[in-house]
Amino acid sequence: MCGIIAGVGEVNLIPTGLEMLKNLEYRGYDSAGIAYFEKGEIFAQKCIGGVDKLKECCAFNIDSNVMIGHTRWATHGKVCLQNAQPIIQNNIALVHNGIFENYKEFAYEFEQNDLTVSDTFCWTKYLVKKLEELAFISEESVLQQFKQLLDNSRGSWAICFLYKYLPNCIFFAKKDSPMVLGLGDRCIWIGSDEYALSQVCRKVYHLENSQYGWVSSKNLRVYDKFGRECDIFWSKICNDLKESKTQNDCIMESEIEEGIDSAIQTLENFDFSYVSKFLKNISPKTKLYISGCGTAHNAGKIAKFWLNKHFPFVEVEYASEFLVNQQNIDSNCICIFVSQSGETADTLKCVNLAKERQAKTLGIVNMENSSIANLVDILILGKSQKEYAVAATKSYMAQLAALYALSSCVDIEKSHLRKVDRLKELLLSLKNITIERIDDVVELIKDRQSIYYLGRGMDYLVALEGALKLKEVSYIHVEAMPAGELKHGSIALIDSDFVSIVLSTQNATKEKMKTCISEIKCRGGKVVVFSPFVDVGQMGDIWVKLIECEDELAPFVLSYPLQRLAYLTAKRKGFNPDKPRNLAKSVTVE
Ligand code: F6R
Repeated sequence: MCGIIAGVGEVNLIPTGLEMLKNLEYRGYDSAGIAYFEKGEIFAQKCIGGVDKLKECCAFNIDSNVMIGHTRWATHGKVCLQNAQPIIQNNIALVHNGIFENYKEFAYEFEQNDLTVSDTFCWTKYLVKKLEELAFISEESVLQQFKQLLDNSRGSWAICFLYKYLPNCIFFAKKDSPMVLGLGDRCIWIGSDEYALSQVCRKVYHLENSQYGWVSSKNLRVYDKFGRECDIFWSKICNDLKESKTQNDCIMESEIEEGIDSAIQTLENFDFSYVSKFLKNISPKTKLYISGCGTAHNAGKIAKFWLNKHFPFVEVEYASEFLVNQQNIDSNCICIFVSQSGETADTLKCVNLAKERQAKTLGIVNMENSSIANLVDILILGKSQKEYAVAATKSYMAQLAALYALSSCVDIEKSHLRKVDRLKELLLSLKNITIERIDDVVELIKDRQSIYYLGRGMDYLVALEGALKLKEVSYIHVEAMPAGELKHGSIALIDSDFVSIVLSTQNATKEKMKTCISEIKCRGGKVVVFSPFVDVGQMGDIWVKLIECEDELAPFVLSYPLQRLAYLTAKRKGFNPDKPRNLAKSVTVE
């Protein structure tokens, strides 16, 4: 969460810096700001809202060759100008991504119980104090004070700051929050991800944990946690990132449309011999853990179903829960981590934990060069390219494809190629299909406060993701439930106003789903059915007709209409699906 851009060079960096900051808006859009040097003084412009608003605030001639910028997703402290970053205090301007967990130790007494003040605001005061202690000001002496304060801090950070008395210099540090250096044309940039740097930098260096340093237009110094100077090995920027994003009105819509291709690309790119080699020595007794957050976790739930055919012991845990229930992780486990961004703090922490316990780690990650991608023993890339809309759609399709291919690799009948070819064939056929009646579903649900998503087995697992998607962009409360559970309590909510969306794609459970629909209908409840089966579909008030396929492939058929339903409902209600309230794309704080 929170995006950082900083740059120092020989030319005016403000216009480019603002554009780069715009590319980081997916990390948060509660507030935005920049600080810069002009004639030896620090100035700042900040606003509540996103970078477009910030640009309006900066619509006068700012000319500066040193700048830092920030887009905020609030964790501690309310959304207000004081907490908007850069934090300006005395002679310092500071931007921070992460959390200072022990910030209260730094806060004044009257701030101890004040939840409106941000951790960064309190922490900056201590940096101010530390720098006031200096008898002699130089880049290295300032850096030492900064480092001492970091050594006494707990939490995660990517920080950059400007100090009035060194006007050609940016200080930085990184721990458990991403930070990348980039070589531009007569300037050096610092950003929260490679993508933000991709339009203006030729080469990048991903800072490692606990590195810190300073940069001016002539010098760059990076140190490790022991204070030893580090060599910098620049690498070429990832080419995929340079492609411009789809220029549609709504990015989520384009990305939903790109989902099928993302899945196909993932299968095309999947290296069966590499993965099979990794899996070769695994016995069916091996314990498999799958973990991730949100949509990535939901993809993992479906993979359990596929993998269970070969491994009786597969557990799927939310990454945040994995951290709590970690006692069984040891060298006999394989831990599979799923993540679109490869930067999600909870998931990243799990990877580190699994590695400490000497478990084998495998990542299904959509962003090459991300922290998780760099850390796992074996990486499978989800080929969805960069996803911009906050709600994960095409990355989910790519994750599903990668997980399906992975599960086919352990197929004891060695029929993996046949299985994957069949999936490709299905995906290609889905590209030409128009799904009807989704608009009618939108009209039926748009004014509801709350609805159910019901399914059994695989359908229930897809329902989990359908519900998350609808909830996050349309702000309707949606509960996904195994259909058999309805009668054990939740049926109490059913009346003539209540809508249940029933998913029924599985031959094995279709009769049971018919019973579930009857139970709702005889209480007057409205039912929308997503199904290929005529006898189930006809029982619904609205039938969204799907194509029929093998039970285990049904998630690929179901996901597209559910994503589209979420998107269309948000649009119908007048919300911007690309930037749902309170959310940010990359959750880099625990
Ligand atoms: C939902 C969504 C989130 C993410 C979750 C994990 O649409 O986008 O639930 O799936 O925050 O993010 P990654 O996959 O980047 O680890």
